[in-house]
Amino acid sequence: MSAEVLCTLELPEPFPTLVAPVATLRTLGRLPGHEELCDELRVHPADVLCPQLRDAIDDAVLDAGLPRLRSICIYAAGFDNIDVSAATERGIVVGNTPGVLTDATADCAMGLIIATARRLCEGDGETRAGRFTGWEPTYMLGLDLHEAMLGIVGFGRIGQAVARRALAFSMRVAYFDSTDPPVASDLRDHVDAVPLGALIAESDVISLHCPLTDATHHLIDEAALRRMKRTAVLVNTSRGPVVDESALVRALREGWIGGAGLDVYEREPKLADGLTECRNAVLSPHLGSATVRTRAAMSERCAQNTLDALAGKTPRHSVNPEAWEPHPPPPLIDLPG
Ligand code: DGY
Repeated sequence: MSAEVLCTLELPEPFPTLVAPVATLRTLGRLPGHEELCDELRVHPADVLCPQLRDAIDDAVLDAGLPRLRSICIYAAGFDNIDVSAATERGIVVGNTPGVLTDATADCAMGLIIATARRLCEGDGETRAGRFTGWEPTYMLGLDLHEAMLGIVGFGRIGQAVARRALAFSMRVAYFDSTDPPVASDLRDHVDAVPLGALIAESDVISLHCPLTDATHHLIDEAALRRMKRTAVLVNTSRGPVVDESALVRALREGWIGGAGLDVYEREPKLADGLTECRNAVLSPHLGSATVRTRAAMSERCAQNTLDALAGKTPRHSVNPEAWEPHPPPPLIDLPG
């Protein structure tokens, strides 16, 4: 019996080159609906499913994949679309692609911080529309970044990579992270851990880098937006639902805050009513990891996880290794040397 791998969307190289020689690789080439994905797994059982962050992997999908499905290897670092405890209960191990998209995502966050603080997209619109009539002393003034306080929510790899970039721009950096993560030695003397309330009230720029969980859903809600400085900039490259997007639209319209740079949205790809009319918002289409090299590195990591799972070894980047303890499934392939 040959090993079967199902991808929803086509993954870039090197995934096909690494996986196709050892397994039958099927790709839907589009995002299936929930029912369609369940039917697909029932009709063509797979050993490993490689979904995207927009495929909801819940107990119904996991049950449809059983008894054959042994692993979900998502092509993303974030895995909030997967019910990991349901997977663990069913002995299905989940792999993701952390680490390789840290710098690309931090670059994107820094780009949004600069673009929003200095009104670059708004200015681009003015110039293209022919409304730029020459330099003037008070035309389109923005927020200075040097000496401004950057408050980072979520201080894992990406949050710390943003801190490094901000320090190079002479920003002061504070962070909040409820998990008290280890702070890299080069940053320790230059960043301050602060309570969330103080971070929200005192930051000139807030950048979100926490995973989406029950605890972080709408972490930035109306009350938080009202506590921010009226000049402050909010940047989100984590997950949309961390911010209450309708409250954000009111905050941007009514001037509770200065601006927002968003790469992710609460009901992606839909945007909250009124968001596109907010000239103080910079809106990018979930581009955090979107570079050629980073997407190839994610593809390689996803392929490694998939090959590990097919070989009966816990994927090297697994979020629930306990799912296979103490009995991993039997090998279907030998790991390529
Ligand atoms: C992730 O990997 O979680 C990003 O949101 C997309 O690369």
